[in-house]
Amino acid sequence: MDKLLVHGGTPIHGTITISGSKNASLPILAATLLTEEDCVIRRVPDVSDTNYMVQILTGLGSDVERFSGTVRVNAADITDTAPYDIVRRMRASVCMMGPLLARKHRCVVALPGGCVIGDRPIDLHIRGLEALGAKTEVAGGNVILSAPGGLKGANVDLCGDNGPTVLGTDNVMMAAALAEGTTTITSAACEPEVVDLADFLNSMGAKVSGAGTPVITVEGVEKLHGCVHNVIPDRIEAGTFMAAAALAGEGVTLRRVNEGHLASISQALRKAGHQVHFNDTGDACTVHRGETPMPAEIVTEPYPGYPTDMQAQMTALFVTTPGTSVVVDTIFPQRFMHCAELKRMGADITLSEGKAIITGVKSLSAAPVMASDLRASAALVLAALTAKGTTEINRLYHIDRGYEHIDEKLLALGANVERVRE
Ligand code: EPU
Repeated sequence: MDKLLVHGGTPIHGTITISGSKNASLPILAATLLTEEDCVIRRVPDVSDTNYMVQILTGLGSDVERFSGTVRVNAADITDTAPYDIVRRMRASVCMMGPLLARKHRCVVALPGGCVIGDRPIDLHIRGLEALGAKTEVAGGNVILSAPGGLKGANVDLCGDNGPTVLGTDNVMMAAALAEGTTTITSAACEPEVVDLADFLNSMGAKVSGAGTPVITVEGVEKLHGCVHNVIPDRIEAGTFMAAAALAGEGVTLRRVNEGHLASISQALRKAGHQVHFNDTGDACTVHRGETPMPAEIVTEPYPGYPTDMQAQMTALFVTTPGTSVVVDTIFPQRFMHCAELKRMGADITLSEGKAIITGVKSLSAAPVMASDLRASAALVLAALTAKGTTEINRLYHIDRGYEHIDEKLLALGANVERVRE
């Protein structure tokens, strides 16, 4: 288990390039199962979650080649049973269900277990796939979906108690692409990663319209073909470095971003007194720490609202912002594991029912801390950048799940960090 040592107090500055989106890459890789032909996907980040996905595809029988950010998949000859050993390591494996069911008319996928960021049911995925005609059975820890006569288009509403579901929308969209007739998804997730998947499916010959709005229509086709696709930039990686720049930056420029995708994050940073400037084409942004950082309130919401995946990082920023800030997570109300570790570094945070009330302290002091999930670990790295002394962040594998070479990018910005390999 690698750990990261962060020697705090060195300002960061300079330019880095943002990687392709992890959360767009995962369902796009799963969607390659919908065709027998070659798919070439570029800008897939080299993180462990995409590696797990590649292993799952290989385990299903796909022929996969990976070279510097490009993944070629050929799923001509695949089985319907996803390998449990790899599936259990990544909750996003559930997005295998839609494409496998569409292509093989049956799929066996291990039910995802507990998740540290909260209770994450898959009832909406199942509701959507059942609406298309699938029968569901749970046996031996697996969910087995079957539709011997093929799937049929239907009207599917995907609204849950905490809003729409991103991977649930992806699953239904992928299944509907090869279903007979037309599917209308209402209360669909509008995240840019859903739009990127829809673009990928359309490049394969699918007929998906309305992605990016709450109503998506999919006209089923008989067959899909191979294609080449470039994954969108990772808005959460970009947001994380924007927050780092607001905390410890003297001008950090991020290349290959999408200004539209970062609107709620830019707005939150500006509200907190920091400067965010995009270039004319909206694909590069520069963030400067403001002279008088201000407390603020953020509430996570489905896109285009403020993302839950940027909640922990903003909490880290508020920890040393004078005044009282409030962070509310409506998507995953239990996603506050980072707060206990931040408190060990001297943060003043009170938690109550999906909400963190943060009273800014003058400074943090370094401590050995434990990463608990991907975004919580990012928050600890951010806090450590300004803490006095050397912070030791253990269980770095959490951060390696979703941030491509984070230590190298921080070093490129002048941060004083070291990965200790164990
Ligand atoms: N939900 C249900 N039933 C379902 C599915 C979801 O009640 O069947 C609830 C969830 O418990 C949650 C809400 O609906 O309260 C939204 O969850 P969603 O299904 O949208 O989450 P997801 O699709 O499983 C993706 C990202 C997460 C991100 C969420 C929310 C991927 C691979 N994962 O998960 O990313 O937090 O959307 O935006 O795209 C991360 O990258 O760190 C991460 C956790």
